[in-house]
Amino acid sequence: MCGIVAGVALQRSIVPALLDGLKRLEYRGYDSCGVAVLQAGGPRCIRTLARVEALESDVRAANLDGSTGIAHTRWATHGVPAIANAHPIFSHDQIAVVHNGIIENHEALRESLVEQGYEFVSQTDTEVIAHLVHSHYEGDLLAAVFDAARMLQGAYAIAVICKDEPQRVIGARQGSPLVVGLGPDGAFLASDTFALSTYASGIIYLEDGDVADLRSGNLRILNSAGETVVRGVNQITEQGGDSELGAYRHYMQKEIFEQPLAVARTFSMVRSLDATLFGTVDPNAFSGVDNVLMLGCGTSHYSALTARGWFETIAGIRAHAEIASEYRYRDYVPQRGTLVVPISQSGETADTLAALRYAQSVGEALTLAICNVATSAIVRQSNWAFITQAGPEIGVASTKAFTTQLVALFLLALTLGRQRARLSAGQVAKHLRDLAALPDAIRSVLAREPQIIGWAQELRRKEHALFLGRGLHYPIALEAALKMKEISYLHAEGYPAGELKHGPLALVTEAMPVIVSAPNDCLLDKLKANLQEISARGGKLYVLADANTRLQAAEGMRIIRLPDYYGFLSPLLHVVAYQLLAYHVACLRGTDVDKPRNLAKSVTVE
Ligand code: F6R
Repeated sequence: MCGIVAGVALQRSIVPALLDGLKRLEYRGYDSCGVAVLQAGGPRCIRTLARVEALESDVRAANLDGSTGIAHTRWATHGVPAIANAHPIFSHDQIAVVHNGIIENHEALRESLVEQGYEFVSQTDTEVIAHLVHSHYEGDLLAAVFDAARMLQGAYAIAVICKDEPQRVIGARQGSPLVVGLGPDGAFLASDTFALSTYASGIIYLEDGDVADLRSGNLRILNSAGETVVRGVNQITEQGGDSELGAYRHYMQKEIFEQPLAVARTFSMVRSLDATLFGTVDPNAFSGVDNVLMLGCGTSHYSALTARGWFETIAGIRAHAEIASEYRYRDYVPQRGTLVVPISQSGETADTLAALRYAQSVGEALTLAICNVATSAIVRQSNWAFITQAGPEIGVASTKAFTTQLVALFLLALTLGRQRARLSAGQVAKHLRDLAALPDAIRSVLAREPQIIGWAQELRRKEHALFLGRGLHYPIALEAALKMKEISYLHAEGYPAGELKHGPLALVTEAMPVIVSAPNDCLLDKLKANLQEISARGGKLYVLADANTRLQAAEGMRIIRLPDYYGFLSPLLHVVAYQLLAYHVACLRGTDVDKPRNLAKSVTVE
């Protein structure tokens, strides 16, 4: 969380690059933001509790200019959102720091710095870094940052400037992402490649322990041992998908409507249905696999829960879906033949990365990342990877990343099913035909938007909602509730429909909308009985019913009819309707859809 961008520009102002980068990094946090540049009279800094757009106006009004600078957009960890806690954070008006991550030993460091006479004006752990660099500074910022970094425990990516070295920025990383960007206008640092896509043509991925010294026209990188190292330069290629908003009102809306394309692009990666589709050289690399362990958080965990059913039914293989933040602290017993599958949109989620490393540390050797960012830490930490083709996802609430993860996991289930001789050629062909036709099926769900808006108008004033599903649609109920609560702030919970009578049924009154997925699958009759239980208690039902379920709207039961049952891939249709529902409830309630309160897109802290 938190986004940092910094740079030294050649013969021009760094400010436009910093602001452009901050706008692209706002997904990482938006509690406050700020920028500092070095000018002849010393550093100048502007910070605000508003968004980057407001910072830009302030910067213009103040004529902020200079060729060297650092900037930050914050997701608060230590200290409330306040100007004093907003970055850049200074030490003695000489050293300025922007930081992403958490310094675990900040209390001990703070005590020792106070003993040395340093005064603290913020509640941040970052101020420790600023004073620490200041305390080590003897005319060489690189040496000071290197020495200070060695005293930090925890995760950090930092960019540091010093009043006495006007053409220099030092960056350092440990655990949190930081890239160097090189372009015709200068050298830059940022939390991700996307932040630099306007200004850099080449990207260097710093490794843990690296310290980078950016001067105009000169770059040097030290590794954790203090040796000068050369890291490869990668050309920036913007991942498919336009990152501009275009005609849409919100990124989330745009991303919901991009799903037919994102799903088609992900499916188009299929050349052969064997392990090479997932980045292996050997087509039979999965031949010893008889167990799949999926690791993820939030929406990515729900894609794992959905896929668990596919692995069991299609491939006849044991599958487990673990919440990464829980798994990483369990005494997990490794099992031979386990394929560990970390699932992540960003590829930077701290808990998922730590869970993957934990699995590796206890002996799991086969790791396959399903991820939307080819250069991310989780991909680099894994043996193999399948890169979903969702394109940049800017809205904090995940939509197209989820459906493309599901496509990737379905392909993995087919691959394992085929390898284990659980699928005939005819069955494989049918599944592939269904995948190929999925974009059109999703389009037909998107066409139900007017009816979904009708439901949203009824739900907008509710305080709570229950989402129900069974089988493959139970994880979709969880995902629907997550979408609803995170962007509309309407309290929602997802339950397996059969579980209602074991407790949650007590909540059902006229005031509690109950929103249900009713696919025409083998559990439909059971589900109908669950609907009766709710109706009998005066509950108001909103049912997403497949066209061929023969469910009829009645008093107390609204129905939106989806296309005919879409088999194993049905969850991908139901979830799109729920995304639209959450989106429209949020719009009607006037929340900040793309940047819901307290959240951030990339959760790089534990
Ligand atoms: C919800 C959402 C989050 C993420 C979670 C994991 O809409 O986006 O729950 O799914 O933070 O993020 P990634 O997939 O980047 O690891």
